[in-house]
Amino acid sequence: MAAADLERVANAEPEPRSLSMGGHVGFDSLPDQLVSKSVTQGFSFNILCVGETGIGKSTLMNTLFNTTFETEEASHHEACVRLRPQTYDLQESNVQLKLTIVDAVGFGDQVNKDESYRPIVDYIDAQFENYLQEELKIRRSLFDYHDTRIHVCLYFITPTGHSLKSLDLVTMKKLDSKVNIIPIIAKADTISKSELHKFKIKIMGELVSNGVQIYQFPTDDEAVAEINAVMNAHLPFAVVGSTEEVKVGNKLVRARQYPWGVVQVENENHCDFVKLREMLIRVNMEDLREQTHSRHYELYRRCKLEEMGFQDSDGDSQPFSLQETYEAKRKEFLSELQRKEEEMRQMFVNKVKETELELKEKERELHEKFEHLKRLHQEEKRKVEEKRRELEEETSAFNRRKAAVEALQAQALHATSQQPLRKDKDKKKASGWSSIYSVTIP
Ligand code: GTP
Ligand code: MG
Repeated sequence: MAAADLERVANAEPEPRSLSMGGHVGFDSLPDQLVSKSVTQGFSFNILCVGETGIGKSTLMNTLFNTTFETEEASHHEACVRLRPQTYDLQESNVQLKLTIVDAVGFGDQVNKDESYRPIVDYIDAQFENYLQEELKIRRSLFDYHDTRIHVCLYFITPTGHSLKSLDLVTMKKLDSKVNIIPIIAKADTISKSELHKFKIKIMGELVSNGVQIYQFPTDDEAVAEINAVMNAHLPFAVVGSTEEVKVGNKLVRARQYPWGVVQVENENHCDFVKLREMLIRVNMEDLREQTHSRHYELYRRCKLEEMGFQDSDGDSQPFSLQETYEAKRKEFLSELQRKEEEMRQMFVNKVKETELELKEKERELHEKFEHLKRLHQEEKRKVEEKRRELEEETSAFNRRKAAVEALQAQALHATSQQPLRKDKDKKKASGWSSIYSVTIP
């Protein structure tokens, strides 16, 4: 035997042996303990209602739980589909139920319905993500965690009698790997018996041919296998909702009253309401919760963890340790961080360089401007200086002329005062004065 085989045999767990006991020990009460614990803890159940505005979603919820939930009528003018969850605390006998009804408000009201399914898918994923985050916490408190994961999606089909709309097929296809879908034909009192039969066959055919996986009531538990198998054949359920009570015979029953007769909600000859209630609440509620956890959530969790780089084994089927994966991821993350840091640093350096260049260019421009202004200023100064000098020269020339004129005037005055005495002399010199005048006055 090879060494590896020997090691495997040595590490193998011993086969458990059956033993009989001498008397009653008491662990047969384990199921009761489980029931008691669950009852104390209470249950949560979350229903998603998808169907066009006014199709009868709220009425059916009220009819199913025999109460009146506070719901307001949805507007027909929503820009996109909006998910509106409402949680209620219900009690029956000693069992507490935290029921959340999520309404896909505005579904089917938009002109472009291509993305109508997306808010619904996102909402379902968000609830899975919340649960996963709680699970991944070091200090988990799943015991009292309010589980908001959607356990069932009641898909309301419009009773056209023809076929499914493409919106129905696309939406159900997008949802089928995320939630248990139970299709129901709403307002089934508006469609005749023979049309309804054909409509059901048509719908199932279309679902199969488009590969839409709807929820199948489980047939592996013997206690419910038979009834579930029968009910699977009745899908999609054709339901009528009403909270109005009408007197039929001497009994008050929930029904819809018309001029031509009464449609009784809980009469199996009139509609499949009882079948739906039986399957959804009384027989398979726990299976729906279980399927949500073990199938849909498990798929989400696996994809999410794989996305994060976790694997159970490598290519050679060697189990991966969490520690190794964590270390590898940590290294990857740190090197990515370093790369980003380096990138940022480089970007910063480039930015600083660019700004520095811009500043230098600005400085050069300013300097040139300054030099130009300086030159202009000097030129102006020189011109002014020249003007001043010219002016000074003109002033001194004027002063000189003024002094000469004054001197001449003084001489002329003196000469006038001596005139009688020197009349003859002057006559002789008259020609000489005129020559002096013509010479000195500029
Ligand atoms: P929004 O919340 O506004 O989208 O509407 P909804 O889908 O909750 O419909 P709602 O229950 O408010 O019902 C709309 C109308 O349809 C009401 O007038 C109901 O009385 C009527 N209705 C509800 N169920 C049925 C049904 O099974 N058959 C018929 N014929 N009418 C119904
Ligand atoms: Mg409503």
